[in-house]
Amino acid sequence: MFKKIFSGVQPTGNLHLGNYLGAIKNFVELQNDKGNECIFCVVDLHAITVKQDPKELKKNIRETTATFIACGIDPTQSIIFNQSMVPAHSEAAWILSCVSRIGWLNRMTQFKEKAGKDKEKASIGLYSYPVLMAADILLYDATHVPVGDDQKQHLELCRDIAQKFNNDFNVKDFLKVPEPMIQKKFSRIMSLKDGIKKMSKSDPSDLSRVNLTDNKEEILNKIKKAKTDPLPLPEELKNLTERPEAENLLGIYSSLKSQDLENSINEFSGKNFSEFKKRLSEALIDKIEPISKEIKKLLGDEKYLDSILLDGSNKADKIASKKIKEMKELVGF
Ligand code: AMP
Ligand code: TRP
Repeated sequence: MFKKIFSGVQPTGNLHLGNYLGAIKNFVELQNDKGNECIFCVVDLHAITVKQDPKELKKNIRETTATFIACGIDPTQSIIFNQSMVPAHSEAAWILSCVSRIGWLNRMTQFKEKAGKDKEKASIGLYSYPVLMAADILLYDATHVPVGDDQKQHLELCRDIAQKFNNDFNVKDFLKVPEPMIQKKFSRIMSLKDGIKKMSKSDPSDLSRVNLTDNKEEILNKIKKAKTDPLPLPEELKNLTERPEAENLLGIYSSLKSQDLENSINEFSGKNFSEFKKRLSEALIDKIEPISKEIKKLLGDEKYLDSILLDGSNKADKIASKKIKEMKELVGF
């Protein structure tokens, strides 16, 4: 079936293994599946929902673009673009925020996590963030949205918003209700320091994640220091319960090797962590080192990266400006 794919990644620095295994690896597979039309967005409007240093933001926009390309997204096959360069995203987000209900947004767990204890001090943008995300997707009539497990709730909201707009304005199927594409396996990579915490860009400890810009030595060191437990590796799947660190590391290994968790368990059954960690590091270095080198090479050519974003944003703008024009007419503008 022909699929229109849309996804976005925030340019907030420290793109890591979780972003790769949970999302970007999947983007590349979808692009390489002939017949799919793919659009990948560097979502800088989302990034500013928490305070950013302007110089850092500019650098991170280029770094995210370089990461997409280094991971295998081909700008001649897919559209790679920058959200703030296409005005329709902000316009559609406003219209959709007037359709969305406060009760729906109040249920979003990511806001609760990100806003922390002092919700009164969080930005309004952080609260309405999922409405902007819905605008991103709906402007392109995307049929499928590949994301990591943490974005599931936002995609359900996007579906509700699309249906409410279509109902309110009596236009069946005007906004396409998209399907989430969340990998069944390994869709949530956890911190190397705590198996029940998500691997995250914003974790203050760099040892908690493998960054896509890490070199061989950094990867070796992080895996060496990764948290484990005192038992040997399990002999059976059921013995992984309540061993979140072992489960996460075996999951990372399986995902890198594109094999089932059961296969990895059989491979290391009863062995100690030091032997497993050696093999895990090798698998990580095989995958991440070439990406890391390519990102660094691309970052040396800012003109090239800027030209990719300009070209992609022009293409995206053609699609999005047509849709927002129709939306405005429906609203009565
Ligand atoms: P973000 O960095 O929040 O813009 O996320 C970009 C993409 O990476 C989204 O599809 C997320 O769901 C995915 N992602 C982020 N962190 C993880 C993680 N720890 N495990 C799996 N996927 C993740
Ligand atoms: N909210 C997503 C995240 O933090 C990023 C994102 C913004 C996105 N717009 C999107 C993902 C549209 C998919 C589709 O990971």
